Amino acid sequence: MNDKSTAKKYIGKVYLVGAGPGDPGLFTLKGKGLLECADVVVYDALVSSAILQMINPQAKKLDAGKRRGRHSLSQEEITQLLITKAENNGVIVRLKGGDPFVFGRGGEEMADLIKAGVSVEVVPGVTSGIAAPAYAGIPLTHRDYSSSVTFVTGHESAGKYRPIVKWSAIAHGSETIVVYMGIHNLPYIVEQLQLAGLSLNTPIALVRWGTRIEQEELIGTLATIVEQVKASQFGAPAIAVIGEVVNLHQILPSYRPIS
Ligand SMILES: C[S@@+](CC[C@H](N)C(=O)[O-])C[C@H]1O[C@@H](n2cnc3c(N)ncnc32)[C@H](O)[C@@H]1O
Repeated sequence: MNDKSTAKKYIGKVYLVGAGPGDPGLFTLKGKGLLECADVVVYDALVSSAILQMINPQAKKLDAGKRRGRHSLSQEEITQLLITKAENNGVIVRLKGGDPFVFGRGGEEMADLIKAGVSVEVVPGVTSGIAAPAYAGIPLTHRDYSSSVTFVTGHESAGKYRPIVKWSAIAHGSETIVVYMGIHNLPYIVEQLQLAGLSLNTPIALVRWGTRIEQEELIGTLATIVEQVKASQFGAPAIAVIGEVVNLHQILPSYRPIS
């Protein structure tokens, strides 16, 4: 038997689409067009309901939602599901919160699909690490305070990333640090940044459910933030911004959608 007779044929194409951080106004036109003509949509937990409402009513909707400690489907199961759906469907949308290639495992999913012989394309989304601070009145760069930004995962299993997070280097690598998935591990992160020499007075902002009506902000310093989180029971999902740019929230307006 030659390779041609054994090769699987996939009629469908998978689109890895970034849904943005929540506000449907931040969703791309390309992403919306794909949702409207999708045959199958496999979506994550952080995709907002306003965006899910844009899905073609005839499409099959599958919740692959993953939230801390509650995995509905494993990464392998999600990839296998996409491969199976590509056998008999035309447009398969894999809808992910924010941007698929920013702490979204989009790169892994894309590589696995290509390996299986499935056509795949990425449609970038607005990442929460930029949008949530912006809606809170915090620009990540500013000519007076910051000419560089680092995006880093604060997830406690960050050792799975290559290279692993070196907080001592992160502390001095840029003027603004943006931490994804950092709330659970915040005491450790704050301690590591202090040990690396960042001042206790360094401002830090946490923005929870950024760009949604539920958006909340907590502003403090490296000295105070852990206690503030405890006292207010501030939880995930949130972005942490560390650096002098945080002080700009005092003069720039914060914004959140009203519906
Ligand atoms: C697995 S990462 C996915 C990031 C996503 N790919 C992105 O580009 O925004 C999940 C983390 O993103 C952050 N996040 C996602 N949406 C958010 C939002 N609306 N507000 C604040 N943080 C958010 C939180 O740190 C959350 O724990």
